[in-house]
Amino acid sequence: MSAILPGATIGFLGGGQLARMMALEARRMGYRIAILDPDPDGPAGQVADHCIEGSFDDVDAAQRLAEHSQVVTLDTEHIPAEVLERIEKTTPVRPSADVLRIIQDRLNQRRFIEAQGAPQVRWAAVSDPESLKEAGESIGFPCILKTRRSGYDGKGQARIERATDLADGWEAIGKAPAVMEAFVDFDREISTLLARGVDGEIRFHPLAHNDHRHHILHISRAPADVPPEMARQAQEIGEGLATALGHIGMIAAELFVKRDGSLLVNEIAPRTHNSGHYTFGACVTSQFEQHVRATCGLPLGDPSLQRPAVMLNLLGDLWSGGEPDWTSVWSHPSAHLHLYGKASARPGRKMGHVLVVDDGKNDPGAVAEKIYQDLQGAAPRASVARAG
Ligand SMILES: Nc1ncnc2c1ncn2[C@@H]1O[C@H](COP(=O)(O)OP(=O)(O)OP(=O)(O)O)[C@@H](O)[C@H]1O
Ligand SMILES: [Mg+2]
Repeated sequence: MSAILPGATIGFLGGGQLARMMALEARRMGYRIAILDPDPDGPAGQVADHCIEGSFDDVDAAQRLAEHSQVVTLDTEHIPAEVLERIEKTTPVRPSADVLRIIQDRLNQRRFIEAQGAPQVRWAAVSDPESLKEAGESIGFPCILKTRRSGYDGKGQARIERATDLADGWEAIGKAPAVMEAFVDFDREISTLLARGVDGEIRFHPLAHNDHRHHILHISRAPADVPPEMARQAQEIGEGLATALGHIGMIAAELFVKRDGSLLVNEIAPRTHNSGHYTFGACVTSQFEQHVRATCGLPLGDPSLQRPAVMLNLLGDLWSGGEPDWTSVWSHPSAHLHLYGKASARPGRKMGHVLVVDDGKNDPGAVAEKIYQDLQGAAPRASVARAG
């Protein structure tokens, strides 16, 4: 199929921050943007040409988006695969329904990773009290129970310390069908970020080193400081999985680095990824432009890093006393503020991020840490919590 060129409309299923940043890059390139989201004034709706208000399982709304677009992509893997299957009859959808069917169910994803022979955490399926008990016996403790569907930012997960807590742990995730995983005492977490084009071409962004707090990404540093052999292995794992999926677009593999230096796949995200936000400002081609290029069947861009960078996530907790005071961000010329335009802040909600690039004078990690401390300690500019 020929390339989809600027002037065409790209449809996004989901209008969160990932779609917003893809839309901003796509607009710069001359594309038009259509969005399907329950909130037409959400992060991507604010920068779109056309918004369709609807839920992610609304096939008719998705069909209307497809009719409006020359190609459809997504900003969340939680769009039901059946919805994609319907619209891909008329419009190219990247990634495809087949990819989502594997990814959006943790059990399918674990089986897929196993079939590819990629290293991953020890796991077992849980569907009833009996399989819960058996899983506890085979996986051991501590372990983590994760719902098969709809999890993100650690939601739908329970850490279980001992056999007597199994029932409580399952209760905590609503007794939903789940996957139990061994708790990995990892040395660190990294992610491999790559794009796969329509012709199978692969391009890697530099690996990111990720620190999570309460199961939510806190800081990513790029490039990850890992030995070349480990970097090669991480990229090989990512490439193998992307190719086996037949994926088109950006894809991230989250990896645990064990204390012996070996790697385990935590999970795969067939889209742009929070740990790749640093690319938007630090790389020749951001992950967002790269995804647009792949989706539209264009040649991929140069993903090289221009300057090392650190990305700090801004969670809703920082809004507890009102809009944060950004003085600390402005006072560091190498720091760049990204806000997603979300109307209401909740604890744990991703509201924006700060990108600190290496200016050759100050350590970007230390600058990011200073900004974080200042934001936490700063008196809020407005004393009234935001509405909504
Ligand atoms: N088996 C495990 N052992 C140790 N830590 C884990 C394990 N599973 C998850 N974690 C920790 O919790 C974090 C979030 O887990 P996971 O990636 O499964 O969550 P998620 O809800 O899919 O989040 P997201 O989609 O935002 O990455 C991981 O990055 C890691 O820090
Ligand atoms: Mg994750």
